[in-house]
Amino acid sequence: MMTISVIGCGYLGAVHAAAMASLGHRVIAVDTDPHRIRELSAGRPPFHEPGFEEILHQGLRSGRLRFAVSGTEPELEQAKVHFLAVGTPQSPVSGAADLTALEAAVDDLARVLRPELRPIVVGKSTVPVGTAQQLADRLEPLGAEVVWNPEFLREGHAVADTLHPDRIVYGLSDDPERAAYAAGVLDEIHAELLAEAIPRILTNRPTAELVKMAANAFLATKISFINTMATMCDVTGGDVSVLAEAIGYDPRIGRRFLNAGIGFGGGCLPKDIRSLQTQAEELGVSQAVGFLREVDRINLGCRSRVVRLAEAVCPGGLAGTKVTVLGATFKPNSDDIRDSPALDVARRLVRAGALVRVCDPCGLPNVMRTHPDLAVATDLEKGLAEAELVVLATEWRQYLELDPQWVGGLVARKIIVDGRNALDRDRWHRAGWVHVGMGRGDFMEEAIGAGVIGVGVRQ
Ligand code: UGA
Repeated sequence: MMTISVIGCGYLGAVHAAAMASLGHRVIAVDTDPHRIRELSAGRPPFHEPGFEEILHQGLRSGRLRFAVSGTEPELEQAKVHFLAVGTPQSPVSGAADLTALEAAVDDLARVLRPELRPIVVGKSTVPVGTAQQLADRLEPLGAEVVWNPEFLREGHAVADTLHPDRIVYGLSDDPERAAYAAGVLDEIHAELLAEAIPRILTNRPTAELVKMAANAFLATKISFINTMATMCDVTGGDVSVLAEAIGYDPRIGRRFLNAGIGFGGGCLPKDIRSLQTQAEELGVSQAVGFLREVDRINLGCRSRVVRLAEAVCPGGLAGTKVTVLGATFKPNSDDIRDSPALDVARRLVRAGALVRVCDPCGLPNVMRTHPDLAVATDLEKGLAEAELVVLATEWRQYLELDPQWVGGLVARKIIVDGRNALDRDRWHRAGWVHVGMGRGDFMEEAIGAGVIGVGVRQ
């Protein structure tokens, strides 16, 4: 058992803290937000994350997990290892990552580090390359070691990803003695995971920082690639779902992250590709990552494309049409609406004149708080009533399992745009629906069937 601190109690930090307690460590987790700390201390997760509540309760009950407001916890200085897990969102004024929270956390930490413990500061946040070295330059003279240990957890799978990661990466000092010491302590913390033979990669700090950026940039690229193929399918009569399956059998390509639709969003992929581009520009190699600008552009284009599709399949266009949008969160099993393609599509539909109602099993409290102007329906049946168009925007299981006959009895017109290509198309067709996917080859047919031409997809 080791005493560790976790600084920042967002998705990453709170889950990491509870997971470390479940591995048997004594954990003090701090955050600047007193409300968040009150909720966590009372065992109430401040966000929706399957499995988190259980490990939070276990940790609190065991007495090994505690939460405190930053700056109020004297025991922090007793921790041997400090995990930095604060947010590094996109700057409000540029594509760069905003490191304000990280800098503040390091300032706080610098005040409590005790050189006699030879503490280790472990960065988990996603940061521009070079951040770890800057921290090391500042903290090593205070007797601390600095390691970058990026986190690869996915929202909705955060607990499993933290306790059973695909790989563990340590970005270590170039000094062999420092590196060996820090790796040894981290191995002790991760002993249970390493016993599962999870690959562990020891490297320098810039590589570790880049590994995380590269992983997210690659995933974003994969999604934009398949969405480009979806456009090709739309104009040629191909079916991108079959295409993805067929290329996915090639193990060099792989089927995962080849789901075409309204594209990627959330608090990570979009900001990370922008941060990487911004840093490349600063380093004078912007042309080397120019394709990431395209990845971003293609991704945002998916959102306008689904609105054009909706316009195309609505006889008379979107103005005044009652549209029910199923899904508000950026992905299922999360209440996170940050940069959510679903929410963006809903707002674009509103701007196009549609009368929009948004449904979501978990995300509505966040939608109501941040978008009070958007009409929401907490009851699915009421949300679907009299709809003239349904748009599936987030592939929640509840929506995939909907009975098209039942939905057909509620709506005014049986037209559904499947923005995630996730519904069983044949089943919806059999129930008399016009089902329009993204790049499923049926778009031309449906659009022509609805008497629509010139929608900007097939010119
Ligand atoms: C992402 C990475 O997957 C994690 O490995 C990483 O740790 C995390 O960012 C982070 O940097 O913290 P996350 O943002 O939770 O995780 O979500 P993803 O599962 O990657 O999905 C991102 C977006 O891509 C979602 O909007 C999803 O709907 C979309 N997506 C995903 C597609 O449009 N198509 C796909 O085939 C897969």
